[in-house]
Amino acid sequence: MSPAAGPVTVRVPAKVNVRLAVGAARPDGFHDLANVFLAVSLYDEVTARPADALTVTCEGPGADQVPLDRTNLAARAALLLAARHGIEPAVHLHIAKDIPVAGGMAGGSADGAGALLACDALWGLNSSRAELLDLCAELGSDVPFSLVGGAALGTGRGEKLTPLDIGGTFHWVFALADGGLSTPAVYGEFDRLTAGTDVPAPEAPPALLTALRSGDAPALAAALANDLQPAALSLRPALRETLDAGLAAGALAGIVSGSGPTTAFLVKDEDSAVSVAAALAASGTCRTARAASSPAPGATVR
Ligand code: C5P
Repeated sequence: MSPAAGPVTVRVPAKVNVRLAVGAARPDGFHDLANVFLAVSLYDEVTARPADALTVTCEGPGADQVPLDRTNLAARAALLLAARHGIEPAVHLHIAKDIPVAGGMAGGSADGAGALLACDALWGLNSSRAELLDLCAELGSDVPFSLVGGAALGTGRGEKLTPLDIGGTFHWVFALADGGLSTPAVYGEFDRLTAGTDVPAPEAPPALLTALRSGDAPALAAALANDLQPAALSLRPALRETLDAGLAAGALAGIVSGSGPTTAFLVKDEDSAVSVAAALAASGTCRTARAASSPAPGATVR
């Protein structure tokens, strides 16, 4: 593949964790997970265009909270890919954000995966899927899933993916909170809350995998669980009110999304998504609410 003549834009989905089982802290500080990811139809777009040096810009809700220096996962992705190929990271990356920032929906990971794919096409590197997945895993635990999308079980620290079958469309409402929650802080709180207890080995329950395979929303609702939820609620007790408001509005179930503070509500159909989103937005327990569906495709060049 030769280098792209013009800018390359990649669209990347957000994720929700329908089962986030967290094991004890490992010697490297990470936690072994059984992490069942579903990609949802909220997307960031990353555009790569030739430039004299690496620069990053960002627009959209929460853009002012996104770092534009080399800590940005999109910038890190460009640097990593360029270093791997011994070339200059001469690229301008523009991120159009729609995934909540620091919301537990893998927005930063989406930007990393998007930048990797966009730079690979812009520079004509033609990396294999396996090479891209390796680079994603170096960038962060959730980045490989942002590349592949759909539904998958993540083991190890979440980066080792096994694709899962999904037998229908699931409808969601996401309640967005003011401010973010730091993922390391939430894992730290998990360690504090579980100190001195026997943390079981993380597992994805068969009932959950069956519910996904059969597209059965009530069965999936009964199996939703997030081991980080007590830690996120401990750091943000007000999220309990958001969870109660979503259930009162008719959601089948609600959980904290990943490390939070976004809360995710599974609803029975698209109409219910519209009414639950409206009720949550009016409840005063969240900043705003968004309806979305899953599965969604992974990072895609537009
Ligand atoms: O891999 P990533 O950069 O997304 O991880 C962010 C932080 O989340 C890590 O530094 C660690 O504190 C925590 N984490 C963890 N166990 C995992 C994944 C993330 O403790 N499996």
